Amino acid sequence: MLLTTKYAPKKLDDLIGNSEQVEHIKQWILHWLSGKPRKPLLIYGPPGVGKTSIAYILKDQFDLEIIEMNASELRNKDRVERVLGQSALAGSLFGRTKIVLVDDADVLAGRKDSGGGTAIKNFLAESPCPAIVTATDVWDKSLSTIRAECELLEFKKISKGSIKKHLETVAKAEQITLSPEIIDAIAERAEGDVRAALNDLQCHGPSARTHEKDIFQIVRGILKGESYAAVKELVGGDIDYDIIKLWIDENISNEYETPDDIAAGYDSLSKADIFDGRIRKTHWQMLKYSIDLATAGVAIAKKTPYRKFTKYNFPSYLKNMSRSVERRAMLKAIGIKIGKRVHVNARDAREYIPLLKEYGKSNMQKLMDFYEFSEEEIAFILETSVSKVKK
Ligand SMILES: Nc1ncnc2c1ncn2[C@@H]1O[C@H](COP(=O)(O)OP(=O)(O)O)[C@@H](O)[C@H]1O
Ligand SMILES: [Mg+2]
Repeated sequence: MLLTTKYAPKKLDDLIGNSEQVEHIKQWILHWLSGKPRKPLLIYGPPGVGKTSIAYILKDQFDLEIIEMNASELRNKDRVERVLGQSALAGSLFGRTKIVLVDDADVLAGRKDSGGGTAIKNFLAESPCPAIVTATDVWDKSLSTIRAECELLEFKKISKGSIKKHLETVAKAEQITLSPEIIDAIAERAEGDVRAALNDLQCHGPSARTHEKDIFQIVRGILKGESYAAVKELVGGDIDYDIIKLWIDENISNEYETPDDIAAGYDSLSKADIFDGRIRKTHWQMLKYSIDLATAGVAIAKKTPYRKFTKYNFPSYLKNMSRSVERRAMLKAIGIKIGKRVHVNARDAREYIPLLKEYGKSNMQKLMDFYEFSEEEIAFILETSVSKVKK
């Protein structure tokens, strides 16, 4: 299981950081629940600080029914109107109070409004129930109408100290033994992003290292599996379902060769995904059906087994996660070096990188000498490979 899922905060008190904002949200929902409507909240801030989690916590803690619109749906006017239409929400008279989550509204930024933005704005202007909008960047012009209907609440990055403490707690619970230096380094390069920190921790943990061999065996067993029963037996124990699913997703097309098999395999996996989406909102007992679809279902999707050696890949989702962590660590190191020379803080210093790239095209050595960049750093700035920098 992904650590971010396993350790998703369940109560407002579980959230680390932004305590004043969290307290404000608590008052906000209590007002609603005592019959006093409040403006929708527009929670904005960097990724991985708990913006989306907030809505789910309120749902659990106050026993609400959540109605979620996610990024991909926001541009579809009909969809927005159907989901957020007055009639859809009117049923709440005797049922549970609803809470609306419009997640990642900045997908609307920089685009011409296809109607979705206006539909959301119209809804927010007269929302009959508590509504939360989340975004990373809210200052885009195309979000101005939505902004006007909401109360803005900024979530800040989580401090390194808090992330470190959180990592220590999770590492202990997971029996991941890491030196204090590594924990410190993970907290450092997370740059305030709890999700990134947990994903990074997971890459250092047993499910990523020692268990990688076991996962490999299971994935092979599933993709080469010849019967429903055999695969069910294989995955019967305590499997790391989320991780296995990522591996299956990555490797169906390595194992299966005919278009029919590939399509059928992905079809079963995507049904599992739909199940999982519903499960999160309702019944955990249904997890066994979704595991079946993602494992045995994929196995029997093929007409005949492939008797060949298959090279399976590590899931690119997890790889990209750690790659983006590396990328941020690199940006930070470069920022510090530039900052030292031009006397600005490391964050502002990053804005110089595109300039340095242009300059560096013909003056690479000068740049390296002046800022004391390493070969990796200069390669990163010039967006080229280290080997090209070396010659
Ligand atoms: N403030 C926080 N406290 C504890 N865990 C957090 C916090 N913020 C994020 N996380 C972890 O990261 C995951 C993703 O958080 P999420 O709410 O989706 O972030 P955002 O919407 O701000 O990008 C959560 O499931 C949780 O595991
Ligand atoms: Mg989010």
